[in-house]
Amino acid sequence: MTSMESDKCWQECMDVAVQIARSAGQVVREAVKQEKRVSTKSTPADLVTEADHQVEELIISTLRERFPSHRFIGEESSAAGEKCILTDSPTWIIDPIDGTCNFVHSFPMVAVSIGFAVKKELEFGVIYHCFEETLYTARKGQGAFCNGLRLQVSKEKDVSKALILTEIGAKRDPKTLKIFSGNIEKLLSAPAHGVRIIGSSTLALCQVATGAADAYYQYGLHCWDIAAAAVIIREAGGVVIDTSGGPLDLMSRRVVAAGSQEIASYIVQQLQPISYERDDNGHSTQ
Ligand code: IPD
Repeated sequence: MTSMESDKCWQECMDVAVQIARSAGQVVREAVKQEKRVSTKSTPADLVTEADHQVEELIISTLRERFPSHRFIGEESSAAGEKCILTDSPTWIIDPIDGTCNFVHSFPMVAVSIGFAVKKELEFGVIYHCFEETLYTARKGQGAFCNGLRLQVSKEKDVSKALILTEIGAKRDPKTLKIFSGNIEKLLSAPAHGVRIIGSSTLALCQVATGAADAYYQYGLHCWDIAAAAVIIREAGGVVIDTSGGPLDLMSRRVVAAGSQEIASYIVQQLQPISYERDDNGHSTQ
């Protein structure tokens, strides 16, 4: 494929992703009104509902019909034992309901997230806030948008003026929780303006892209929580890196994202790591 052909082809994929994210969001809005059957996965805090499965099936079957040669990584397919490995093939990376715990409680921070990578490079990301009906999109090299309006990160460099977001992750053993609270404590005594937890990694990351938050970090999220959001933040002018300060590793279950390299580096220096098994280690794990 020439670069013009691939450009056209990935644009077509992105247009389909937008349509399917909106349809999936509608299914989520209906499903939240119904009684939910909730099960747990890796830990009692790692929830899944019938709606997660239904929405993932809807997204993947629609995309597979349209793009039969593409590969798929989906949260629930991975939990069911499908391999979560990124190859050079065009690959869709899907979280059908990000913020499942919020969904279970009808807490209105729930998103559908669709990322797309080719040759292991993220090409575009689409995140749909199901209840606000806001659509975050970005394509590599073409900017990031929310409902069509261009996004820009805050560019804040001073951590003492920063609002920082994080998420808890599924592990809740005492040692993990101690490190988790210790990390928050360090940032609060920086002193950052505040630290927030909203229950959806993808929507929290979108807040960094809009400039409403200055940074985000987390241990324990998955590739489907980061893929789409990483393109959106980078295209909004932000930084998305590994918690070690090196380049982002999509399968590593950890991330620091920020509106400036200065704040990202500051957070990297403060964090004590929490270890999680990689997404591509072959098991479905914590
Ligand atoms: C989870 C949520 C949660 C975060 C987890 C994610 P899910 O996604 O984003 O806030 O702490 O790390 O895996 O399970 O609701 O799709």
